[in-house]
Amino acid sequence: MTTTIHAYRAGLLRFDEAGQALFDSDGLLLTAADTTLAHRPQRILACGAYAALQNQVPEGVPIQHWPDKVIGPGFVDLHVHYPQIDVIGSPAEGLLPWLEHYTFPQETRFADAGHAQALAQVFLDELQRHGVTTALAFATSHPVAVDAVCTAALARRMRLITGLCLMDQHAPDGLRNPPSTPDSNDATERSLIDSEVLIQRWHARERLGYAITPRFVPTCSEAQLRGAGELAARYSSVWVQSHVSENRDEIAWVRQLHPQARSYLDVYHQFGLVRPRSVYAHGIYLDDTDRLLLREQGSAIAVSPTSNLFLGSGLFDFDAAQRSGHLHGLASDVGGGTSFSPFATMRAAYFTARMTLESQGGKPKAGLQLAPSRLWWLHTAGAAQALGLDGVVGNLQVGAEADFLVLNPQAIPLLARRTQAAQTLEEWLFACIILGDDRMIEQVVYA
Ligand code: GUN
Ligand code: ZN
Repeated sequence: MTTTIHAYRAGLLRFDEAGQALFDSDGLLLTAADTTLAHRPQRILACGAYAALQNQVPEGVPIQHWPDKVIGPGFVDLHVHYPQIDVIGSPAEGLLPWLEHYTFPQETRFADAGHAQALAQVFLDELQRHGVTTALAFATSHPVAVDAVCTAALARRMRLITGLCLMDQHAPDGLRNPPSTPDSNDATERSLIDSEVLIQRWHARERLGYAITPRFVPTCSEAQLRGAGELAARYSSVWVQSHVSENRDEIAWVRQLHPQARSYLDVYHQFGLVRPRSVYAHGIYLDDTDRLLLREQGSAIAVSPTSNLFLGSGLFDFDAAQRSGHLHGLASDVGGGTSFSPFATMRAAYFTARMTLESQGGKPKAGLQLAPSRLWWLHTAGAAQALGLDGVVGNLQVGAEADFLVLNPQAIPLLARRTQAAQTLEEWLFACIILGDDRMIEQVVYA
């Protein structure tokens, strides 16, 4: 067996089991991979204070030293749409007109494999530039769009989870799942067969994962939701991704389509789609019964604050989510979201928590409840936990895959001043969240 070992020295940011941030001003990260086997990721052998660990570095292994920089876990984006890069910043009255006027026309273009391949590269470049090393991403309803982004992520050894968008109704020609031949009426069945073929092609292939992807209740027939639930039961390690309770008009539409359901989330539940590894974007208008169901089923909410603000959807209630104890983490939701940057997302989450409390007439304690270390955790280790990938990605801990970032707080003049003056780790993290952007991501290392 040939083992390749790497050693890195810099400041070290990580989290303990309880989600508390840990910081070593002079830290060491030691990683190893068995290179006799192809495609084995580098895993963390040791991490902590340099003084305590330096004698674990084997003789002859060079130490890559970044003085004044900080090594931190790669960010995890819990919900993003790769075909919506060219939709960012398209203003609309709300979600439904935005989908109709901007989003659906752009997504229709992904029937063309060449377009999908080109945009897949732009998408992965953006994730990398912003320090996102794991993403749960929507593709479109075209199998070639799934193949394009999986092929590109595989070549870069990125951890990407994606899936074919299921939408067999209430969507335009060219985007609705098509039948096998123009004159057959098997579009729903075809979409489920295509999903299963793609599961077998891509799920658990190196670092890739598959997500069964019903777009949202209005675009899926009952037969399609039932089929998606059956697939989810047969392939328990596969993810489910969708949208829930994002916008008031959308919710009214769902109530019309499914008057017997207790709630929007209950529609998915009736079809077996609320289970571990199910991740629902938004969840702004959930009630406590919904939250309890999420907790009991081990399902997660992908909180998408820049999207919620941009589309005027509403304010996610972080306090209620934390009290109920269901899984949740942060997401860009590009292109409803306005930025790939985890710093922009954490900032918007902070503003959301402030304004939620303010609008409820509460005392301004939200800043304490959503501490900067908690925001950072929700976009790294907490988001990984929401995916069922805790211990695998999202944190620097022994045994985990060694995806990490080299952060440079000197890269932005104001941030350099502000972080130099920070007295505590929380102050340092807060300065990064408020002033940080992609200039701070000096290097991204994939496991
Ligand atoms: N609901 C259904 N599709 C979408 C989408 O593409 N973006 C958002 N934000 N919500 C959705
Ligand atoms: Zn979305």
